[in-house]
Order: sequence, then structure tokens, then C-alpha cells
Amino acid sequence: MTDQPLSMVVLVSGTGSNLQAILDAIDAGLPAQVTAVISNRPQALALRRAASRNIPTRVIDHREFARRDEFDARLDSLLDELNPQLVVLAGFMRILGDSLVRRWHGRMLNIHPSLLPDYRGLHTHRRVLEAGERWHGCSVHYVTAELDGGPVIARARVEVHANDDEASLKSRVHHCEHALYPKVIDWVARGRLKLAHDTPILDNKQLRQALTFDAPQLMEEAL
Ligand code: GRF
Repeated sequence: MTDQPLSMVVLVSGTGSNLQAILDAIDAGLPAQVTAVISNRPQALALRRAASRNIPTRVIDHREFARRDEFDARLDSLLDELNPQLVVLAGFMRILGDSLVRRWHGRMLNIHPSLLPDYRGLHTHRRVLEAGERWHGCSVHYVTAELDGGPVIARARVEVHANDDEASLKSRVHHCEHALYPKVIDWVARGRLKLAHDTPILDNKQLRQALTFDAPQLMEEAL
């Protein structure tokens, strides 16, 4: 780890509770700084969270672009300008194209509300309940061109309760996201985690399988 905090740009679309968890972790000692927050939605609550901390915010409204690659090009040039060490997708609801994702390969993380590789895509909580699964959770992974398909670093497992509905399950998973994402970012910031040949390396060991935490264990260890 260098003396400089890890510089990050966080991409958001909505509420920004993961952004908040990251900012809270920074306050608690995570050696990183958020140098800008970018949203594709002008009304995202996440923007207000950032502004209230004097973090510069930028909006690239996807509705102003006729084509996906034009949106990507604008985002790519903004990221170039901001030049962060890590790009953190935190509830960013746009699919990014191959060329942008390739340029940030190994330097872009996402959090997804399922135990990847299961339940990629949307409405994971509902689909997990409908399938009668016993376990659900969240995963942090490196971003590749395959949607929710990049190398998974760590997962947090949440037990599905008999009386769960979508809202209750989502809320428990969200809670785990807020512990898991800062933890993984902390590994990056301290130089403990990197990606080599599409395999995450943590403390010089290849993670051939994602590290999986149980929710209570994760909460106890949370920063
Ligand atoms: C989270 O569930 C995240 O896993 C998913 O989008 C949601 C964002 O929530 N990608 P928030 O905006 O961080 O509150």
C-alpha cells in the first residue's frame, strides 16, 4: 500500500446506499477517496449523498444519446479525464460495452444482489423466492463484457426465511452488500487484491473460487 489513498470514481443510478456504505467505511479508516460520482440519472439520490459530502458529481443522462456506444464514449472520456485507480459500480443500471469495459479491465468492480454465477440480471430476490432457494446473497466481481459474468471475488450468503417476501429478503441482502463492498475495496486499497489473467489474486493466492462469507460472520468483521 502506498501512502496515498486509493482514488475511486463511483458510478450510480439510484439510491446510493452502497455509495454511502463506502463513504462511511472511508470515514472509519478505509484508505481510499471518492474523487467523483457519476450518474446516468439526474434525479438519483446518490448524487445528493455525494454532494452533501462535497464530492464532485457528474451526470451523463443516457436518454440524451441515440446509441449505447455514444453514451459509452462519453463515459469513457470522462473516466479518462478523472483518471481514477478504481471504478466502482454501485447500483449503476447501464450495461457497458466491450470496448469501455476492456479499457478498465481489472480496475472496475461491480456488486450484484445474488450468489453469482447464479441469478445474473434483474429481479434476483423475486426469482430466488420463486425458485424456493435456501440461500441468497450478494457478490462483488470484476467487470467484464459479460453481464454479471466477470471473475467473482467475494460473496455474502444470506439464508432465505420461510416468511420472507421480496422486500424483506432484499433488505437483508442490501445490508450484506454494505459490509461486503467496502471490505473488498479495502483489499484493493491496501494492495492485497488484484486481477491477473482473469483470476483474482488475494494476498498472493489465486482465488479460483469466490470467498464466501456467511452474513453474521461478515457483519462481525465489517469495517
Ligand atoms: C444493489 O442491490 C446492487 O447490488 C445493485 O443495485 C442495488 C443498488 O442499491 N446492483 P443502492 O443504489 O446502492 O442503494
